[in-house]
Amino acid sequence: MDKIRDLVSEELNLLEQELVKIKKNHNTMFDDLSNFVQGKSKRVRSLLCFLYLKSNNIDITSEIISLLAATELIHNASLLHDDVTDDSHTRRGVQNLFDKYGSKLSVISGDYLLSLAVEILFNLKNQYILNLFLSAVKKMSEAEIKQFFSRNTNVSVEKYLCIVKGKTAPLFSACMEAAANLSGINSDVAKTFGFNFGILFQINNDMDTLSAENDKNNGIKTAVDILGIEKTLALKDNYKEELSKILISIPDNKYKTGIEDLIKLL
Ligand code: FPP
Ligand code: MG
Repeated sequence: MDKIRDLVSEELNLLEQELVKIKKNHNTMFDDLSNFVQGKSKRVRSLLCFLYLKSNNIDITSEIISLLAATELIHNASLLHDDVTDDSHTRRGVQNLFDKYGSKLSVISGDYLLSLAVEILFNLKNQYILNLFLSAVKKMSEAEIKQFFSRNTNVSVEKYLCIVKGKTAPLFSACMEAAANLSGINSDVAKTFGFNFGILFQINNDMDTLSAENDKNNGIKTAVDILGIEKTLALKDNYKEELSKILISIPDNKYKTGIEDLIKLL
């Protein structure tokens, strides 16, 4: 992963500078919130976007950095909410805000990050992009609600995928579509790429031991519960295949190899 990140380290640093702007001076909770946003994170959505744009020979503008800062803020906001619904007391192996401050402050902190994201998106003065992200947040929320009411029930693979396509894929597809649109490259292709990558990412995340344990405690059925390991790996391969088909249209370069390596990690 570090080698892939090195390909776009300058761009990732610019993104971090944008995210550092969250105020640290209110009280300890703001410090913890700011540390959470700036903490150990793979920035997968931004990494994918940077690699995709650079593989298409696109220069990264300040507008792209802004929309990816908004993307990361929305993602982090959703995690603060998700930990409450999942009754999960750690994230990335460390105590989370829910455990330290309780559900009320975890949810309000998520709302705060979401408002910062909306502020950034609003300042881009691009209604098309603002709508893309609002629609993504709506779909994410709907899917989380659907997942909540599916707990301890027999979930079909279709329903599982429907939830994944709602809770994870939309943010990947929104940032890819928006970044492609701002860069003048085919935004439909970028959107589809982001969408399929998001599904693959979530299926893979669900196979992670810590995440699986949490899902089990919450009565949430994931691909492995429904299909077993073999068929889940085959399902992931289908998405990898879709992604590699899209990549064929991009000429070979180190950024495209970075995307291929990123997919191999999933
Ligand atoms: C992690 O899933 C959570 C998501 C992919 C989306 C969560 C979305 C919401 C809470 C609704 C939208 C809210 C806002 C503020 C945008 P997971 O529990 O499978 O992953 P994990 O193992 O990392 O917790
Ligand atoms: Mg969770």
